[in-house]
Amino acid sequence: MAGRLEGKVAFITGAARGQGRAHAVRMAQEGADIIAVDICKQIDSVLIPLANPEDLAETADLVKNLDRRVFTAEVDTRDFDALKAAVDAGVEEFGRLDVIVANAGIGNGGQTLDKTSEGDWDDMIAVNLSGVWKTVKAGVPHIIEGGRGGSIILTSSVGGLKAYPHTGHYVAAKHGVVGLMRTFAVELGAQNIRVNSVHPTNVNTPLFMNEPTMRLFRPDLENPGPEDMKVVGQMMHTLPIGWVEPEDIANAVLFLASDEARFITGVTLPVDGGSCLK
Ligand SMILES: NC(=O)c1ccc[n+]([C@@H]2O[C@H](COP(=O)([O-])OP(=O)(O)OC[C@H]3O[C@@H](n4cnc5c(N)ncnc54)[C@H](O)[C@@H]3O)[C@@H](O)[C@H]2O)c1
Repeated sequence: MAGRLEGKVAFITGAARGQGRAHAVRMAQEGADIIAVDICKQIDSVLIPLANPEDLAETADLVKNLDRRVFTAEVDTRDFDALKAAVDAGVEEFGRLDVIVANAGIGNGGQTLDKTSEGDWDDMIAVNLSGVWKTVKAGVPHIIEGGRGGSIILTSSVGGLKAYPHTGHYVAAKHGVVGLMRTFAVELGAQNIRVNSVHPTNVNTPLFMNEPTMRLFRPDLENPGPEDMKVVGQMMHTLPIGWVEPEDIANAVLFLASDEARFITGVTLPVDGGSCLK
């Protein structure tokens, strides 16, 4: 039986680990070849280690083990020229582009907005908002050129639909992603290119499952662990969960990328265990 993305090519940012890797693997399982980029080095204001070249190589191996082709590049999504060079080279190798997943993102800071440093703010907006715009700007000419239409998925957050304290710069960037999504959807609709955003709740990746976040969730404890964080996480949701897995987001992204969603565009899709109900 043909896969849901058979013969298609997907360009994914932040693909070395976490949700980006899950998207690459899930799409490859459904027949897509993958152009996978990741910064693979540190951004100073980010407290947790970002991905490294070995992580990106592991994603590539996982795709190859599914008998799909993969093109990788170490690229910072803040660098438009480098992004364009990478996606151009990937499309040169694979011959087409059908799907863009603008997934790369960071968490930094942890202050109220009035105490957020300019450095934290600037890095956040540069990666989590401008980087998303640059990703689509670099990739979409190839989808347009193909003349077959396509699907673009922008990774926002529940924090793109409602506010959380102590992370206002993140919330501002993720709300901005919704504005990008809606504008791209309007501008690209006539070419049969659909644009949607996904809004994950807490996801079990290094961006969430780390010590600074555990301390933010449980300032009352000296050494909080995952189980301590889960108690607070459960209060955020309608379903009895503290977080979801990267594969839960990948299934939603795959749906939006596939022809099953052929008339869905301009939608903000929460994958949030009912967090937005609260
Ligand atoms: N984990 C969560 O709880 C959660 C919740 C909602 C939304 N999100 C969003 O999901 C997306 C994926 O995050 P994740 O949970 O997989 O975290 P993660 O830290 O595991 O993965 C993020 C990846 O993006 C890469 N990256 C960061 N900055 C980059 C840049 N400038 N250029 C290229 N690559 C860069 C990192 O190296 C890393 O591999 C992010 O946009 C994040 O904001 C995460």
